[in-house]
Amino acid sequence: MRKKIVAGNWKMNTTVPEGVELAKAVVAKSADVPADVKLIIATPATHLVPVAEVVKGSAVGLSAENCADKEKGAYTGEISAAMVASTGAEYTILGHSERRQYYGETDAKLVEKTKLALANNLGVILCVGETLEEREAGKHFDVVKAQTVNVLANFTAQDMKNIIIAYEPVWAIGTGKTATAEQAEEIHAYIRNVLAEQFDAQVAEDTTILYGGSCKPSNAKELFAKPDIDGGLIGGAALKADDFIAIAQSY
Ligand code: 13P
Repeated sequence: MRKKIVAGNWKMNTTVPEGVELAKAVVAKSADVPADVKLIIATPATHLVPVAEVVKGSAVGLSAENCADKEKGAYTGEISAAMVASTGAEYTILGHSERRQYYGETDAKLVEKTKLALANNLGVILCVGETLEEREAGKHFDVVKAQTVNVLANFTAQDMKNIIIAYEPVWAIGTGKTATAEQAEEIHAYIRNVLAEQFDAQVAEDTTILYGGSCKPSNAKELFAKPDIDGGLIGGAALKADDFIAIAQSY
C-alpha cells in the first residue's frame, strides 16, 4: 500500500522564530489527522535545525526545499544533501517549478541532486508539471512524461521506495486556479502508467503521487478522493497550521 502524504512547502516564507511557531502549531494539531496520513513540512534551509527539534518525537516529517547538485566543496551559497541530512531532515523537495523557472534547474541537475539525496538517506519529493502554454498546446502529457523519465531513468525500482512524485501544474501554483480533480487524476493515472513502463506494475502501484497547486481545505477532499491522488504538496495554505491540518483531515 502506498503512503498518503500531505506535505507543506513553505517556500521563502517566515523568519526562523515564525517558522518555529508554525511548526509547533502543526505538531500540536497533528494528532487530529488520521493516523494513515503522513504530515511533512518543508522549510527554508535556515529553519531545519530548530524545526528538527520541534518535530522530534512527533509523527511530523521534516523536509528541505532543495539541495545542491554537488557533493561538497567550493560552491558558495549551496547546501549539500549531507548538510540537509545532518540537520535531522528526512526528505528534500527537488525540481520545484519555481526552481526550474527562476534558478535554471534542469533535469540533468536533478539527476545529480536525486543521487546525492538518496545517498544521504533523504527521501525525495520530485516535482513535475506543465506550464499554461504547454497545456494549451496540448503538450502536458509529453512534458510530464519527459520530466519524470529524464530523471527516473537513472534510478532503480529499489530507489523508487524513497521517491515521491508531486504533480504541480505551473498554472495552478499560487494562482488560486486549481486543476479540477478530473484534470489532476488524469495526469496522476498517466504518471502511474509511465512508472509501470519505466519500472514495473509494482513500482507504479507503490509510488505516492501528490497533487500541488492552490490546494486548500475547500478543494482537498474532492482531489484526495481520486484513486491516483495520494495527497498534496501545499504551498500558501501550509503557512496556516489550521488550513494545513484541515487539508490533511480531508482524507
Ligand atoms: P500553492 O499551494 O500556493 O499554489 O503552491 C503549491 C506549490 O507550489 C507547492 O509546492
